[in-house]
Amino acid sequence: MDSVVVLGQIARDLVLTLDGLPEPGSGAPVTSRRELLGGKGANQAVALAQLGAEVALVGAVGADEVGEDLLRQAIADGIDVSAVVRRGEDSALIVDVLEPDNRWRYLEHIPRETLVAEEDVLAAEKLIYDAGTVLVQLQQPVATCLTAARLARTAGVRVVLDGAPPTTGTHGAELVEEAHVIRADAREAEQLTGSRLDDTDTAFAAAREVLRRGPELVVLEVSGQGNMFATNEDEFFVPLADAPVVDTTGAGDALIAALVVGLHRGDPLPEIAAASVAAAGKTAGHPGGRPSLASRR
Ligand SMILES: Nc1ncnc2c1ncn2[C@@H]1O[C@H](COP(=O)(O)OP(=O)(O)O)[C@@H](O)[C@H]1O
Ligand SMILES: [Mg+2]
Repeated sequence: MDSVVVLGQIARDLVLTLDGLPEPGSGAPVTSRRELLGGKGANQAVALAQLGAEVALVGAVGADEVGEDLLRQAIADGIDVSAVVRRGEDSALIVDVLEPDNRWRYLEHIPRETLVAEEDVLAAEKLIYDAGTVLVQLQQPVATCLTAARLARTAGVRVVLDGAPPTTGTHGAELVEEAHVIRADAREAEQLTGSRLDDTDTAFAAAREVLRRGPELVVLEVSGQGNMFATNEDEFFVPLADAPVVDTTGAGDALIAALVVGLHRGDPLPEIAAASVAAAGKTAGHPGGRPSLASRR
């Protein structure tokens, strides 16, 4: 299988499960605690590796011990970290405070140095040229994303975007034009399309409009209902997996990873869509964004 280059955030994830948040001036017990390799870039890379893809990560961690540990974990997960740079004092930290019924809150400390810079992309040029897909997480600086997308496009490498491009300036529109695939959760889909996707008819219409901007495959979440997959030839809706939801964190990252693996294998789109939604459902079943998909190999 061709390799995948993932460009995105790497962070220490601290997942705290509570029965309820304390009032200001009081405390509350934490019922479970997990400290994980996290951040969307890392979560996507871990999912890809678990699904059997050869994967390299482009990102940044701090010079602290946490950064050391994150790199060690990524290597143990089978990820090529040769394009992960170390700079700045602190690695990024994301605290996922999770109450029952998938009520999550994130507290994010993302130092600027841990965002992916254009120079990091240029330093990873060879990895990108040799890849089958470049998966770009759009929460990174838009100039970085655009440089990666253009490099990949020029080299004939599939460009997959996760998230929503900025609505201000021209870079966002250019990014969508460069993309082969774009996938957005409900909130991002609203930013991408300008309409709230509350039902499948609205979502199909919105997806067709995005297809006209350039991508060949568009995947949009319909709020609380499921995900729709659209190409110029085909479009269909896949409802959510019928499994208990604990924390949807990372479910989108697992979804896009399974989608990329399916595209690499050349699977039929309905099969890819089903596997992607199953991967999302599985990830939503446990606290924290780190996927656990290895048994699907
Ligand atoms: N029970 C479920 N079964 C399948 N997919 C689910 C389920 N619950 C949520 N999802 C999907 O998980 C995805 C969450 O996406 P997103 O918000 O991008 O998460 P993250 O960025 O934390 O990975 C959405 O596409 C949503 O439809
Ligand atoms: Mg997401």
